[in-house]
Amino acid sequence: NSDSIPFNEYEFPLDSNWEIDRNKLNLGENLGEGEFGRVVKATATDFIKANNKCNIVAVKMVKEGHTDADMASLVREMEVMKMIGQHINIINLVGCCSQEGPLYVVVEYASHGNLKNFLLKHKNTDFLDQERLLSFSYQVARGMEYLASRRCIHRDLAARNVLVCDDYIIKIADFGLARDIQDTDYYRKNTNGRLPIKWMAPESLQEKFYDTKSDVWSYGVLLWEIYSYGEQPYKNVATYEELLNYLHSNERLDQPPGCSLNM
Ligand code: ADE
Repeated sequence: NSDSIPFNEYEFPLDSNWEIDRNKLNLGENLGEGEFGRVVKATATDFIKANNKCNIVAVKMVKEGHTDADMASLVREMEVMKMIGQHINIINLVGCCSQEGPLYVVVEYASHGNLKNFLLKHKNTDFLDQERLLSFSYQVARGMEYLASRRCIHRDLAARNVLVCDDYIIKIADFGLARDIQDTDYYRKNTNGRLPIKWMAPESLQEKFYDTKSDVWSYGVLLWEIYSYGEQPYKNVATYEELLNYLHSNERLDQPPGCSLNM
């Protein structure tokens, strides 16, 4: 009886390679919420996959009031994750629940949250020594190298979109998100009130052009975030125009205190 099942207005083909019995998942606390979607922590009552030792997972779903486009975006994200394959430094797909109920996209859980908050939380502690910062930087590079080898352009690489897992393994998240480049509103702040334009390469800012090399620019800003322990880049730049002027006058982010010249 479809009346008793919320969000059941879609039907998806069964993909037995990835399908998980939704009865094996116990949904828990909210991990994050966007405009159209939400991520929830879940424990699996049973090993969901024979070779998967993790019993805690993150489950992505759309929220009530979503549009068809929001659902299409979640489906696309899931399909991109299936296509790209597995790498230790990206958030991998664990499986999905696509039958008889709302679509759940089940991904690896990051026990230490996002890298930006992690850096802020642990700055001024012995934990974040030079070796650790270098390890974080290297792991993001390995994950991005893999995505680039799979012809995936991230388009929003930033410390807020990188997650910290058990054993301080760094994993890149949200690489499968459909980003409607034409609709990019450079004046719109993100949920934290910050302008995502500060991670964008000049050619992305001006011509909405993105490729692996514009991801490399974003990686540079992310390196600056790591070595600044989660600081906001270009603190004195408030608008799109100011950022363009700043970059065009050949000004760049400063070398963070304590960051070696080699880095
Ligand atoms: N927030 C968003 N995605 C997450 C994940 N996979 N693990 C932990 N927190 C998250």
